[in-house]
Amino acid sequence: MPTDPKPTHSTSPSGESFPIPQQKDYPKEFERIQKLADEARKENKEIVVVMGVGFVGAVMAAIIADARDGKGNHSKFVIGCQRPSVRSYWKIPLLNRGQSPVKAEDPQVDPMISRCVLESKTLTATYNSDCLSLADCVVVDVQCDFSKEDLGRMKTGQADMAALEATMRTIGRKIPAECLVLIETTVAPGTTEFVAWPILKKAFERRGIESVPLLSHSFERVMPGREYVASIRDFWRVCSGCTPKARDRVVTFLQEVLNTGEYPLTVMDRPIESETTKIVENSYRATILAFLNEWSLFAERNGVDLIKVIEAIKVRPTHSNIIFPGPGIGGYCLPKDGGLGYWAYRHILGFEDGDHFFKITPTAIDINDTRALHVAELVRDALRNMGRYIAAADVLLCGASYRQDVGDTRYSGSELVVRKLTEMGAEMRVHDPYVEHWYEFEKQDVYPAPRRSWARFFRSQDELVNLRVSKDLSKALKGAEAMVLAVPHKEYLDLDPDRVVEWAGGPLAVVDCFGILPDDHIRRYFQLGCEVKALGRGHIQRIKDEVRKKG
Ligand SMILES: NC(=O)c1ccc[n+]([C@@H]2O[C@H](COP(=O)([O-])OP(=O)(O)OC[C@H]3O[C@@H](n4cnc5c(N)ncnc54)[C@H](O)[C@@H]3O)[C@@H](O)[C@H]2O)c1
Repeated sequence: MPTDPKPTHSTSPSGESFPIPQQKDYPKEFERIQKLADEARKENKEIVVVMGVGFVGAVMAAIIADARDGKGNHSKFVIGCQRPSVRSYWKIPLLNRGQSPVKAEDPQVDPMISRCVLESKTLTATYNSDCLSLADCVVVDVQCDFSKEDLGRMKTGQADMAALEATMRTIGRKIPAECLVLIETTVAPGTTEFVAWPILKKAFERRGIESVPLLSHSFERVMPGREYVASIRDFWRVCSGCTPKARDRVVTFLQEVLNTGEYPLTVMDRPIESETTKIVENSYRATILAFLNEWSLFAERNGVDLIKVIEAIKVRPTHSNIIFPGPGIGGYCLPKDGGLGYWAYRHILGFEDGDHFFKITPTAIDINDTRALHVAELVRDALRNMGRYIAAADVLLCGASYRQDVGDTRYSGSELVVRKLTEMGAEMRVHDPYVEHWYEFEKQDVYPAPRRSWARFFRSQDELVNLRVSKDLSKALKGAEAMVLAVPHKEYLDLDPDRVVEWAGGPLAVVDCFGILPDDHIRRYFQLGCEVKALGRGHIQRIKDEVRKKG
């Protein structure tokens, strides 16, 4: 059977195609990087290689390249290094033009990257990992995933550390003996000391290097949104090193590139402690969100508006971080990080009794991963109350991303809403002001990786590759029988019910997943002949009864 020819190009999200470099291009590329590094060294700059220029690495690289010493001079020359894969190579030529390879809502990102590449010339990007031989410090920002095998059963999932392990092997083969390696990737606790360090040590042994590799860990707390840069640079960091020397080096490095004066570092004794900090802080967040799911159902069935309950509780300073869980808890981190911890206990640290006491974290993740399915039930019920069927109904989902006012769709509850409603026969449309492409659908055969799409948990998903995100709400609503308000983007907070019904061309079912609708809007929708349902908002029935009595 003929095999497909090897792909020769890598295409950026905007559709620009870049030829992937050939083996013959590597020596020349290294010469280019070496020349730049030599010049930087003459200016007393340290050479920093950032491995992985994705969401986190690209911006971290620019922050380091933008850093200045006490005299106001740039102190680092940064080389962003990325595999020349079909999926990711395009990030390199884009960065080298001074363009950000990640789409960020933060207005600081684009000018900072362009400033560092084109003006201060302290940032470049390459596919040639030989640049590691020039490094004083390597920052690792490649992904470490947790793949779930079943929907709603986190415990059957597996950590996928292949990219991280491959990166560590490359680093071990190429770095100078005294180079500091800093793992920023969120990893399963134990990874730095018991997986990454042995890889580096063996590589040093093979190279005849007698000194111990200088390995450290400091996780990212970056938040997508308008404060993206500040959430990396102006935020508290936790760090640790495998040895006292590595620990001292990482403290110095972070003090040089981050705003540690205002946001002091927390220095831990061992990497497993800083790794565990990240996993516990995200498991905590996942848990406080999951726990409200049962009270959300309680509220729906007993005439209680959970939104008002939460507002009433929040006034207590001790309870101020209570938050309403929308239609699922997405983002890259909260759905996976607890899984990395549970998995590490057995597979890295060697304990067999994890199921005996790991109860809350797995349950929380399972609840969060399946909460969106209930939204589909609400849509079905709202349509039924209007004498319509979900099968073949035109349903508009408003909001594809996982949180308000950002375009990040990773593991958003909205994806599950679309998949479940499609399985039930609905014809789905999507509107989102911040999302250009919803790759979870458009490229569901290969995204987030081949055979890893949530499509595999549902039937009748094939047509969803044709789903496109609309930017025009009035057009998207035309003829819709139901509208699901899935994300509290600012564009949805004050939608006038009369306009919505006018755009839709008649009464429709409205499902609020995030406490978006004020009571007077709910009332107006009923007056207009619509049906309204919402996650956690049982008082809606009361409003409906009042309107019907008056009518
Ligand atoms: N995105 C967030 O909001 C966020 C927040 C906090 C922490 N983190 C953590 O930061 C880490 C990185 O996340 P991200 O969002 O930047 O991921 P990402 O997928 O956007 O980026 C990872 C990059 O590494 C590259 N890569 C993979 N293997 C490589 C290799 N061998 N050599 C060079 N490059 C390689 C990939 O091609 C990709 O560009 C993860 O551990 C994540 O959990 C992310």
